[in-house]
Amino acid sequence: MRGDPFGLHRVIEPKGKLPQPAWKVDNDTSKVYDNEILIDVIKLNIDAASFTQIKNEVGKDEKKIAEKIMQIVKERGKMHNPVTGSGGMLIGKIKKIGKDLKIDANEGDKIATLVSLSLTPLNLKKIAKVHIDKEQVDVEAEAILFETGVFAKLPDDMPESVALAILDVAGAPIQTARLVSPGDTVLIIGAGGKSGVLCCYVAKKYAGPTGTVIGLVHSERSIQELTELGVVDKIIVADAQDAVGTYEKFLKVNDGKLADVVINVVNVPDTEMTSVMCTRERGKVYFFSMATSFTKAALGAEGIGKDVDMIIGNGYATDHAEFALEIVRENEKLYNLFMKKYG
Ligand SMILES: NC(=O)c1ccc[n+]([C@@H]2O[C@H](COP(=O)([O-])OP(=O)(O)OC[C@H]3O[C@@H](n4cnc5c(N)ncnc54)[C@H](OP(=O)(O)O)[C@@H]3O)[C@@H](O)[C@H]2O)c1
Repeated sequence: MRGDPFGLHRVIEPKGKLPQPAWKVDNDTSKVYDNEILIDVIKLNIDAASFTQIKNEVGKDEKKIAEKIMQIVKERGKMHNPVTGSGGMLIGKIKKIGKDLKIDANEGDKIATLVSLSLTPLNLKKIAKVHIDKEQVDVEAEAILFETGVFAKLPDDMPESVALAILDVAGAPIQTARLVSPGDTVLIIGAGGKSGVLCCYVAKKYAGPTGTVIGLVHSERSIQELTELGVVDKIIVADAQDAVGTYEKFLKVNDGKLADVVINVVNVPDTEMTSVMCTRERGKVYFFSMATSFTKAALGAEGIGKDVDMIIGNGYATDHAEFALEIVRENEKLYNLFMKKYG
């Protein structure tokens, strides 16, 4: 039997919604439709905003985090954090390919799904280990990929956990490349994180020698890592939730000038106004963070009379997976950093 290409046939509540905005999906993996892929899941990469929210709610405790994840999946049939609305992604082995699908992969291949866990039916049987620092979870589970679900075969030149970490945020670096032009001043907010370091590297590459890339970090650990990476011209230590304080620090560091492009890749809420205030008139703000509020960004910008283009960070862009893996391969320091943190 064929299912709906977008997965509507698996939506339980409310009927007629697409699987991502739906509250609950059918995660029964004993039936696989002719246009679905069944995956034996190895690891989940929980979205950073979601993982931070769960950690803040239940504490930095492996067992409690595991219980919370089990509870969410039991209620919703998918790992869709009800507070942040975000998901993450997974890696696993293809167990079955529906007979109607013509895809460039075979049963037994290892893949990473490039669609969010917030729409992926997940039959979660057991959590074997929560890796708190990597925000990854080893599981016994099966998942369903719909006909329109994008995936990538796992590369064989890096550990699975490293590929998973890179692919989770693959939308950010390629879209940074699209937004940054030679000579631009670029501010990356959350520069020391997974997507932050990738965006800094790409911004520096595309802004070129006449451009300036400024990384805004929050912790001492991030300063050291970013300094060693050598992909930013300046580093600011600031709390992006303090818009006015951060704006003043930024102006000081950047000789009183605002940024042409601001990339927001933090994992906490309430940083919209820092991003808007640090951007020049008619400049661009790219909100990749899942903790971004459309209302706060739109009304906040209006409230200070700031005419900027605000871009929502689509998790998907053509060739984003290959682009993200390639930039890590081409820079040894970046590769070593990902190996150290996620390998
Ligand atoms: N749009 C999409 O499709 C998509 C896909 C995947 C992920 N995301 C989102 O992208 C964002 C980044 O993900 P990631 O995996 O790169 O996260 P990450 O590795 O956890 O990095 C987040 C960074 O935010 C920084 N930060 C936290 N609080 C801050 C504050 N008050 N002021 C300044 N910086 C602060 C952290 O700095 P310190 O470590 O120094 O504290 C950290 O380096 C998340 O919101 C995630 O949900 C979006």
